Amino acid sequence: MTPDRDELIRLLALEDFTPVYARADAVRRESVGDTVHIRAILEFSNYCRRQCRYCGLNRNNRTAHRFRMTPEEMLATARAAHQAGYRTLVMQSGEDPWYTKELLGEVVKEITSWDMVVTLSVGERPHGDFAYWKQCGATRYLLKHETADPVLYDALHPCGTLEARVGCLRALKALGYETGSGFMIGLPGQTLSTIADDLLLLKDIGCDMAGIGPFIPHPATPLAHQSAGDPALATRAVALARLLLPAAHLPATTSLGVLDDAEKQHVFSCGANVIMKKVTPDAYKTLYEIYPAQLGHTDIPAERRALEQQIRALGRNPL
Ligand code: 5AD
Repeated sequence: MTPDRDELIRLLALEDFTPVYARADAVRRESVGDTVHIRAILEFSNYCRRQCRYCGLNRNNRTAHRFRMTPEEMLATARAAHQAGYRTLVMQSGEDPWYTKELLGEVVKEITSWDMVVTLSVGERPHGDFAYWKQCGATRYLLKHETADPVLYDALHPCGTLEARVGCLRALKALGYETGSGFMIGLPGQTLSTIADDLLLLKDIGCDMAGIGPFIPHPATPLAHQSAGDPALATRAVALARLLLPAAHLPATTSLGVLDDAEKQHVFSCGANVIMKKVTPDAYKTLYEIYPAQLGHTDIPAERRALEQQIRALGRNPL
């Protein structure tokens, strides 16, 4: 029995969530097994044409130092990730039209020719670009819907609509991409019924992946003085996503780990089965500041080995 909207709201507010975590963990084990997939993420440009009010990369943030990696730099980093054992590379950027469909297509063609899966996460683009990159070899696309409440969506996004966002997600799905969405927990104005709608939207789109993480205020954004999302509520949402989408890839999100490292470990026993690791070179990594975080030095092979050990320590199998 999959929970309906009222049931989701009731579950999100439960005093003791332990039984739901246990159910989500059992569904995860039966549907996707004990593997934890490790993905490399390369953040290759922090230029962005949008004005999302929660995000440090929004174009109105004049304090951000902007960078773009060249295709050569991108390939060198991708190569290092491949050599360290990664077999999926998430290529993420702000919405930066400097990277034409042809230019990104060439990078995708090269990387996918080395037995590497490419996930693109470059925002809303013309549907023809999505189709072109699919032909170039990209098989996955991440584009979070951020919030399923159209009024809240409008308040947070001066330059986009929920309808356009969901339109992109449905187009990606129709093109045969493994399609990832997701949303934030703790956005100002969000309620438990918003989160129920967020979860139902993932199901309605037929998402293959969903990233659910707490909101973290960025000091150079209009939401600087809002409070951060509740990590435990984010974990609850991941568990419910597992019940609704048994076979989905559900990451333990970076923002969850930034707020609460123990909760990031815990979410692996509540439905999560994916983790992403930044491979972005040091010179750029600190500039890709969606929200504030403490970032160490990038050592691609050493960090991958450490992560594999942590996953084994949880009784799971890194891949
Ligand atoms: N806190 C947490 N997550 C954020 N994102 C953007 N800004 C923030 C923030 N302040 C998330 C969005 C976006 C992803 C790349 O990062 O969900 O899709």
